[in-house]
Amino acid sequence: MSQVKLTHIHKAYETATVINDLSLEIADGEFLVLVGASGCGKSTLLRMIAGLEPVSSGALYCDGKEITHSSPKVRNFSMIFQSYALFPHMSVEQNITFGMKVRGEKLRDKRDLLAQTVAMLQLDELLKRRPKELSGGQRQRVAMARAIVRDPRLFLMDEPLSNLDAKLRHEVRDGIMALHARLKTTTVYVTHDQVEAMTMADRIVVLDKGEIQQIGSPEALYHSPANLFVASFIGSPSMNLWSLPLQNQQLQLCDWTVQLDVDESKVWLGLRPEHIKLGPSADGRYQMSGQLLRHELLGHVRLVCLQTAFGPLQFFCENDVSLPDVDATVTCHFLPERVHLFSGATQQRIADKDLL
Ligand SMILES: Nc1ncnc2c1ncn2[C@@H]1O[C@H](COP(=O)(O)OP(=O)(O)OP(=O)(O)O)[C@@H](O)[C@H]1O
Ligand SMILES: [Mg+2]
Repeated sequence: MSQVKLTHIHKAYETATVINDLSLEIADGEFLVLVGASGCGKSTLLRMIAGLEPVSSGALYCDGKEITHSSPKVRNFSMIFQSYALFPHMSVEQNITFGMKVRGEKLRDKRDLLAQTVAMLQLDELLKRRPKELSGGQRQRVAMARAIVRDPRLFLMDEPLSNLDAKLRHEVRDGIMALHARLKTTTVYVTHDQVEAMTMADRIVVLDKGEIQQIGSPEALYHSPANLFVASFIGSPSMNLWSLPLQNQQLQLCDWTVQLDVDESKVWLGLRPEHIKLGPSADGRYQMSGQLLRHELLGHVRLVCLQTAFGPLQFFCENDVSLPDVDATVTCHFLPERVHLFSGATQQRIADKDLL
């Protein structure tokens, strides 16, 4: 168990700055999930925490002790890489236990952890195989097992489930959570998967171009995104976002109006697809219509895409509802209490206190 602190971390390669003045405290036993678009610096940040990549400036602390220039061995953090490497000449079992042997650990002292890890990652049947006899997802699970049995001070996991199919992904995700509940090892976990981020995280960090956009619980990020980037990044499909004019500080969307205490000519209005309903509303309020662009069956729901006067709009409806032909006019209504507003100038969230 470890508490980790990053202060004013900066990382620049010759060509560009990758991490810019990043400060972050990771609590003891916390499961922190890092999300952000491809290339925003997630792996670089993990590698710097692991000690595999030097920082350009700033400092790193673990349990109050500075580790900015400590070797990876001294840190004793375990990293599961986005691209993992197994020893090709060793069996799965030897790959998993090799590090323990090198460190002089007794296998019998870790028998329980080994058995639980192998079972959780469903490797029981594969222990005697060589890496070349495994699929990509199976290899990834071996790399994960190898990292877990190290019993480190901190886990750094870089998209560890990306090669698994949906069912296995779900099972291994549950396994990681069960293991975390038991070991309480502080974990930094990178993912592109919205469901993983929402279900696994104590807190989520949203990164964009090497800068933290928001840190908070999954609920906080979903219900109160701090800015336009987080609003569009958290949630799948993305929040519908329209740039709308303000007149005399008043915003109007159909028959819904709100008075804002802001000095701007435009604001961004956001509505999540799940907060728009197909058809007219019971009281005839908050309705709008648009031309049907397409609809897609996602399984349990159908995603409907309209072209409205304000911009394109996506929302969900029941999967068995019958929809008209493409280009026909479709009516829907929105839930005004679910509207998000962002400044047109700064793209920051407009707080409730600024609504009159
Ligand atoms: N050794 C390097 N030299 C120069 N630029 C690098 C180096 N390593 C990474 N970068 C750049 O730094 C940026 C961040 O890379 P990083 O691997 O951290 O992204 P990421 O957020 O992990 O992306 P992904 O989701 O695709 O894995 C990228 O633009 C990448 O091209
Ligand atoms: Mg990466």
